[in-house]
Parts: sequence; structure tokens; C-alpha cells
Amino acid sequence: MKLGIITSGGDAPGMNAAIVAAARYARSRGIEMFGYVGGYRGMIEHKTVDLAKTSFRGALGRGGTLLYTDRCEEFLLREYRLQAYDNLRSDGVEGLVAVGGDGTFRGARDFFADTGLPIACVPATIDNDLGYTEFTIGFDTALNNVVNAVEAIKDTAESHGKVSFVEVMGRKCGNIALHSGVASGADFILVPERPFDFEELSKKAVEKLEAGHHSIIFIVAEGVGKVSEMSVRFKELTGITPRETSLGFIQRGGNPTYADRMLGVRMGATAVDLLAGGCGAVAVGVRGGEIFDTDLAGALGIPSDIDQTLYDLAPGIV
Ligand code: F6P
Repeated sequence: MKLGIITSGGDAPGMNAAIVAAARYARSRGIEMFGYVGGYRGMIEHKTVDLAKTSFRGALGRGGTLLYTDRCEEFLLREYRLQAYDNLRSDGVEGLVAVGGDGTFRGARDFFADTGLPIACVPATIDNDLGYTEFTIGFDTALNNVVNAVEAIKDTAESHGKVSFVEVMGRKCGNIALHSGVASGADFILVPERPFDFEELSKKAVEKLEAGHHSIIFIVAEGVGKVSEMSVRFKELTGITPRETSLGFIQRGGNPTYADRMLGVRMGATAVDLLAGGCGAVAVGVRGGEIFDTDLAGALGIPSDIDQTLYDLAPGIV
């Protein structure tokens, strides 16, 4: 049997663990594996790497993706998906492991609908915005990056008695903001999934300062808006000039944590098992520590939301 593997969309720490585990596990089962370079674009442009001949020494624990990645607009079009399919068939590929986020999953769903090529999707995005799975690969590492950065900002904000707005990634999802905000003891956490009254929060921030807090940290999910604009509004409302930091790509890079490596390894190997067992289009997930698989179209139908239990606890914690 021969399988293909890609990483697609935004890179996420732990993608390499998934690639290495999938390739090694496939090798142990006598399955050949081809990587396509740069995600769906590599499939369209027929850029391959024979993973049987690739050395993975040191790769499992590195951030980024050794297969490279891309956000490939062309793959939205059927003609390019069919071109990719021709290339995979000419390589003798009988199934595909697609590692990425919701855009990757939607591409996989359409690819399967067009071609019927079996496909196993592995969730990897720092955003943790796929509703069917409790965690995605890369989320834990991004959270550790954010928490470290917020603590550094806190040191200086506290020294100078500043109000700080910190913008974190997550696209339309507030999971990075919520989890990092709670873990770093931020004062206010703003997420796009829940309404908030900015005027009211600004008033509360002033009350906290008056009550003896020397600094205030707002964690703002990028889906809420730009911290540059929020700072201006805050000054208008309170007369206090805050500082703002947009953490940017520092959140997405770096070596994966143990949790992300294990998730990558377990999910990568499971994807190979599923394809070897004759699956259709499936998504691998994790819930309560257990790896599971489910129908891909069904998985995409489950909307993403923040962790409500944590959100309910947050006001009492932060
Ligand atoms: O999906 C991962 C992510 O880092 C989002 O949090 C962010 O909105 C987006 O990618 C940034 O994308 P790009 O790398 O294309 O600027």
C-alpha cells in the first residue's frame, strides 16, 4: 500500500511529530509513504518527497513543518483538485493523511467528494477551533508561548504601573485568549464568542487600580478587534494611556510541548491505521485523553466554541 501525507494551513508545533510518527508507523507496517511539499499546492504542482528515504533524526521535537505548508486558494476549485488527484494516482497513492485546521479539513472533504480517495484528517492548529475535538495539535505549545510572554509583559507593567492590552491569535476563536488569560492571571479576557461591555470593563479596570492593583492586563482575542484601537478607546474613557502588544507569530513557533508531541504521534499513527483499515473520509480527534475517529463531514458540522466551564469560572479566578 502507498499513502500520501501533507501539512496544510497555518503551521502548528507538533505537526512534525505527526509526520514522523505516521511515516515511521507506516514503514513498520510495510506501507510506503510520500510527502507532498507545501500542502495542497504540492499535490497540485506534484512536488513530492519519498519519506522512506528521509531521515527524521531530531525532527519529531521541532516546531514548524518539515513538509512545509501553504494556504492554497486554488484547491477551492474542482479543476485543481482533480489535477492533484491525477498526480496522486500517478504516484500510486491510495489514501491521504491531511494534517491541518478547518480550511484543510474542508479541502479534504471536497477532495473526497470529487475523487473518493480515502482521507484521514489530523487536527493541527494553534487556534483549537475544531468543535468535534477537545484539543488540536499546537494549541498547548501556543498557550505556553503566550503565558510566558504575558508574564514578561506583566513584570514590566507592574513595575511601571501600566494598563496593558495584549492581543493573541485564534482567528474567530477565543480559546487561546481564554486559556492563556486564566493561566497567566490576566485581569480581563475578551473573546469573540461572548458579548462584553467595553465601557463597563474599563470602569472596572479603573476601580481595580484605585483599590490598589498596580497594573492591569487585558487579554484580547484577535477575533474581538485590534488592541491598537482598543487602547485609544480606553484612553478616551478613562484618561489613562495603556500599552499594547500584539504577540503575533511568536505564538506559533518553537518546539512543541510534550502534550503536542504526544498528540501528534498518537494521531499521526492512528491516521495510518484508519487508511490501512479501509476508511472513507474521517477526522481523528481526542476527548478525555482518548483518541477517536469520526466521519469528516460530521466533524465539520460541529461548531467551534470556547470552553464554557472555564469561561464561567474565569471571572472568579482572574
Ligand atoms: O490559524 C492559525 C493562525 O495563526 C491564526 O491564529 C491567525 O489568525 C492566522 O493563522 C494568521 O495567518 P497567517 O499566517 O496567514 O498570517
